Amino acid sequence: MEISIKELFAKSKNYSSKWKKYFDVYDENLNHYRGKNITFVEIGIFNGGSLKVWKEFFGPESRIIGIDINEECRKFEEKGIEVHIGNQSDPAFWDTFFDKVGNVDVILDDGGHTNLDQIMTTVKCVNRINDGGMLIVEDTHTSYMRLYNSKNSFSFVNFAKKIIDDINYTAHESVFGKKGNKHNFNFSLNKYIYSTHFYESIVIFKIDRSKTFENTMFNNSGLNHNIQDLTWVGNELNITGIKKLINNLRFFRLRRLKRFFVKKANNKILKRFFL
Ligand SMILES: C[S@@+](CC[C@H](N)C(=O)[O-])C[C@H]1O[C@@H](n2cnc3c(N)ncnc32)[C@H](O)[C@@H]1O
Repeated sequence: MEISIKELFAKSKNYSSKWKKYFDVYDENLNHYRGKNITFVEIGIFNGGSLKVWKEFFGPESRIIGIDINEECRKFEEKGIEVHIGNQSDPAFWDTFFDKVGNVDVILDDGGHTNLDQIMTTVKCVNRINDGGMLIVEDTHTSYMRLYNSKNSFSFVNFAKKIIDDINYTAHESVFGKKGNKHNFNFSLNKYIYSTHFYESIVIFKIDRSKTFENTMFNNSGLNHNIQDLTWVGNELNITGIKKLINNLRFFRLRRLKRFFVKKANNKILKRFFL
């Protein structure tokens, strides 16, 4: 059996410190790359504790690249491990970086962890990640720490929540209807990001351009039994009195009134799940 990523970190010659929950996330998302010819980038080299570990983990076919703002980190360059010095918050750094190295498969951001670092890295990197690859942003708990925040509402976690809307807006326009609440963001990454995964302190954006198309229905040619769709009936649970009254009156316009009462009653119930 192959040695696990946690064991590799434990026996690394150079100092490194990782939150314990991260190892399961690495296992879940990175194990399938072992032994493959991939380009893996880690932002944040520090004492060099992780770079060598990644090389051992992914194997001799892999290309491992470390990035740090600190010139001192050049010393960790060796055969099979490249080091680039630069500032992840600087968009110009990323342009030069990708011009030199080309597209990559996995980027792990363990750099400065400020909102600007994490957001600028995301917006400059996702379009340079190959399909099937991912951007892993670590230590996202900094979104809740004043020290790392520019403004709470501009935290990285809030940005990642916006990406959820961004991805959902690739649904077919019929989902949103004329009065729907679709806003096409001025700044969108939904051509590249296929899925977003939230863990405690880690967010992963998975990239696959071939799966980000506008969603449309797929209907098979099976037998239609004309079963009535009772979706809305279940939601009338909380207006039984009014419903009886309205159903007895049987005026078409009263159906809209019924919907109004359903919404009002159900909002009252749902509110407490958002506190
Ligand atoms: C948490 S340490 C990295 C630890 C390393 N990945 C490990 O597992 O051992 C963070 C590193 O990010 C670097 N860093 C901080 N801000 C940066 C920035 N804006 N751009 C690039 N690197 C940065 C720091 O110099 C530091 O070496």
